[in-house]
Amino acid sequence: MEKFVIEGQRKLYGEVKVSGAKNAAVAIIPAAILSDGLCRIENIPNINDVTIIAHILEDMGAYINMVDKTTLEIDTKNIKNPIAEYDAVRHMRASSYLLGALLGRFHRAEVSLPGGCDFGVRPIDQHLKGFMALGASHSVEGGMVQVSSQRLIGADIYMDVVSVGATINSILAAVKAEGTTTIENAAKEPHIVDLANFLNSMGADISGAGTDSIKIKGVKSLSGTTYTIIPDQIEAGTYMVAAAAAGGDVLIKNVIPKHLESITAKLIEMGVTVKEYDDSIRVVRTGAINKCNVKTMPHPGFPTDMQPQIAALLSIANGTSIVNESVWDNRFKYIDELNRMGAKISVDGKVAVIEGVPELLAAPVKASDLRAGAALVIAGLAARGTTTIEDIKYIERGYEDIVGKLSSIGANIKKVYVPDEVVSIPKAL
Ligand code: EPU
Repeated sequence: MEKFVIEGQRKLYGEVKVSGAKNAAVAIIPAAILSDGLCRIENIPNINDVTIIAHILEDMGAYINMVDKTTLEIDTKNIKNPIAEYDAVRHMRASSYLLGALLGRFHRAEVSLPGGCDFGVRPIDQHLKGFMALGASHSVEGGMVQVSSQRLIGADIYMDVVSVGATINSILAAVKAEGTTTIENAAKEPHIVDLANFLNSMGADISGAGTDSIKIKGVKSLSGTTYTIIPDQIEAGTYMVAAAAAGGDVLIKNVIPKHLESITAKLIEMGVTVKEYDDSIRVVRTGAINKCNVKTMPHPGFPTDMQPQIAALLSIANGTSIVNESVWDNRFKYIDELNRMGAKISVDGKVAVIEGVPELLAAPVKASDLRAGAALVIAGLAARGTTTIEDIKYIERGYEDIVGKLSSIGANIKKVYVPDEVVSIPKAL
């Protein structure tokens, strides 16, 4: 079993470079299915989720070539069969994007029901609503979702909930439909804008991405392209919060400060110094952390994907903070682990009450999902003593070389391999 071992209470100093955005990459890679040519995608993050989605496409017949560490070439012309039933598909939420992309190209798709991090019910009703508005029908059989349509015809789609995935899937299905589609109450996350820019660079006609009303004029074909993915907003935010929790002075490079505004605002409210530059952001923390209330919201609100990390920081703030999770039903599974480290947090439904403690104390803990794992890393950096984190596979799904990046700014963090314990079971008495 692999674990992270963190010797806490080392201040962080120096520079750290943010990788390409995971949630943009996992949408843009399947979107290449819609292209008739070669797509060269730059600033690809080197993380397991990207490897998995690229393998899924390769298994379906696509040409995939990792040109260098951050550049991926994809040519999907040899995909003949719009069916994705591999085991990997079930374990990855973003594999639902195969539905929209395959439907858009073949007017038919069959994909294993998507899984992903477990923090409550993860329905796809709004994705299906988008497809149906365009004229498709759907069924679910043997764990596979099937969608098909003779023709896809542009339509007005109103999303009942603001959903990143459903917005992306509706764009993918509509981009080559006949006529014009509008998506109202669309999600506005930076990776939605990035996906629209990628598709437009291939000849799509999408406007309004980044607002709650997106207009897509269908086009007949999409060419190949060269495209650079935006920096990862959540990875950047995680390093910002890590610097605040451990203390020190860190310059986080390759960021879009505008994407980080909600995180910056909260850190400033907590008494942390944050300075924005063109494509970098500096976080300095010398004094105490002030309590602060946080409510997660769709973009441009405070991102749910930063909720566990900010809670870890608030656990050492002066006073009591309230964190309200308004996007997911059950995203507080990590709280028990923080409490094992001496945090004083109680949860009631979608609200966590965090009574700040003077310091966290190291403990063996387990990551329950990607951002929960990031929160435990942050807690470990701030805690007194040596923290070990199990189930780091979740963390490595979404953070490129987190050990190397944190070590480069002075953290004492190592990835170690520990043989699984052989437990001898006593004979029944
Ligand atoms: N929802 C529905 N019906 C649907 C779709 C969603 O009711 O058809 C609900 C969900 O249950 C949830 C809310 O809408 O309560 C928002 O879900 P959304 O569809 O926006 O989430 P997602 O597309 O499945 C993406 C990110 C998540 C991030 C959420 C919210 C990717 C691959 N995943 O998920 O990222 O938490 O948006 O911002 O983009 C992560 O990176 O750690 C991560 C989990």
